[in-house]
Amino acid sequence: MLDSLITIAYLVAAALFIFGLKRLSSPRTARGGNRMASVGMLIAVAAALFERQILNPAELIAGLALGGAVGLLLARKIKMTSMPELVAAFNGFGGAASALVAAAEVMRLAGAEQIAQLSDGEQVIASALSPTLALTIALSVLIGSVTFSGSFVAFAKLNGRLKSMGFPGLRIISILVGLGVVGAAALMVEQAPSFPLQASMMTTALFALAGLALVLGIFLVLPIGGADMPVVVALLNSYSGLAAAATGFVLQNYALIVSGALVGASGLILTKIMCEAMNRSLLNVLLGGFGAEAKKATTKSGDEEDRPVRQTSPDDVAVLMSYAGSVIIVPGYGLAVAQAQHEVREMADLLQEEGVEVRYAIHPVAGRMPGHMNVLLAEANVSYDLLIEMDDINADFPSTDVVLVVGANDVVNPAAHNDESSPIYGMPILNVDEAENIIVLKRTMNTGYAGVQNELFFNPKTSMLFGDAKDSVGAIISELKELAAA
Ligand code: TAP
Repeated sequence: MLDSLITIAYLVAAALFIFGLKRLSSPRTARGGNRMASVGMLIAVAAALFERQILNPAELIAGLALGGAVGLLLARKIKMTSMPELVAAFNGFGGAASALVAAAEVMRLAGAEQIAQLSDGEQVIASALSPTLALTIALSVLIGSVTFSGSFVAFAKLNGRLKSMGFPGLRIISILVGLGVVGAAALMVEQAPSFPLQASMMTTALFALAGLALVLGIFLVLPIGGADMPVVVALLNSYSGLAAAATGFVLQNYALIVSGALVGASGLILTKIMCEAMNRSLLNVLLGGFGAEAKKATTKSGDEEDRPVRQTSPDDVAVLMSYAGSVIIVPGYGLAVAQAQHEVREMADLLQEEGVEVRYAIHPVAGRMPGHMNVLLAEANVSYDLLIEMDDINADFPSTDVVLVVGANDVVNPAAHNDESSPIYGMPILNVDEAENIIVLKRTMNTGYAGVQNELFFNPKTSMLFGDAKDSVGAIISELKELAAA
């Protein structure tokens, strides 16, 4: 009876994960989807605790309180711009948990002597570990350990504590370490029939595998350029799911298999979407080409920064926009840094009151994480109907009076269309250079994430309003209010 209830609870949890994930695909339903998936996780955890008879109420309450408090603190403290770091840390812990649980299964079985009765009545110690189970454990430990060390290298790079680095022969060493990993996994499979009689051989192979996989994770992520880190984080996210699914097979836990497979598949889909939006192949990202090219390009365009650009003032921008028929706001990473989303919405409200059509153009990789701009603008209660995806809004730029670029750079760089030597050549961009007037809000002439100069800033139709985006938009709001009162 209890077994059936536990199976049903796992199924309900898996269904909640799937429907929750489906709801995450639209900003309108995303919050509900998140809640649905977290209820699913609570059910899965409770079912696992009943299944394994870990039912000490004091421990349960302490676990819930501790986990809930850490989650609450992180959600409140972490800035939106640091979200990729947080995701990297979560992936790392997820990978470590999967590897540790799978490894613990070997330890548990090593202590559990299994006596088999042969037909002639003789008793022998039978292996508690089939070669298939040994292989599954090896996979879980391998993927989990690579995810753990790789994610923390990504974490350190994202928060600027670690620079991308490589050294001659790194790839050869990585291949050798990879071969060592395969050897250790093969030894585990080979040793399975004599387990637990020769448990020490199995545990040695297991520790060797975990150690080598940790080194492999570091070597794989270390040389990848900083600009590619969010893609790597998405890929590591997928790995953490695969590790969890492998552990699910080890424990025969269906909820873990389903949730691991969902994370694995969605992480892979996200990686693909990000690569396409940046016009990069995954191989190119993993081989670390972009960081190096970007550095070269920055040096090349270094002296171009002295070229004159047209500057404008908040009152001119306010006048231009209030007399416009249509304005498209292009948010980018700088909007997130400045935390100017509330001011941007207030400005848009004032323009709409004057009868101006205002919409937002959303590039798939604007900011530093998928959906970054949607989340930011939703926080300021910008209506979802006004957020238009790149493919749907690109055709509208030629008929738009004013484009206001707020802290975006790479995602509006025309070099992606017309400079074959540019590292971002071929990346789909928002065609803002086709609009009638272009206003760019940023602090300096510094480059964006890809490290390449932007020809848009030197376009005769472009005017630059230098300063922090929050201050600049605040000043435009004051001017708009004065205009409305006049
Ligand atoms: P970026 O190209 O990074 O440009 C951001 C601009 O914001 C900078 O040029 C910066 O110029 C300006 N800025 C920074 N702080 C500001 C502030 N307080 N006020 C005003 N401006 C400020 O941003 P983007 O156009 O959003 O492009 C995103 C980049 O990240 C792309 O290269 C993309 O490929 C990469 N990337 C994104 C993702 C995802 S999933 N979103 C993943 C991987 C990589 P100043 O310093 O002069 O102010």
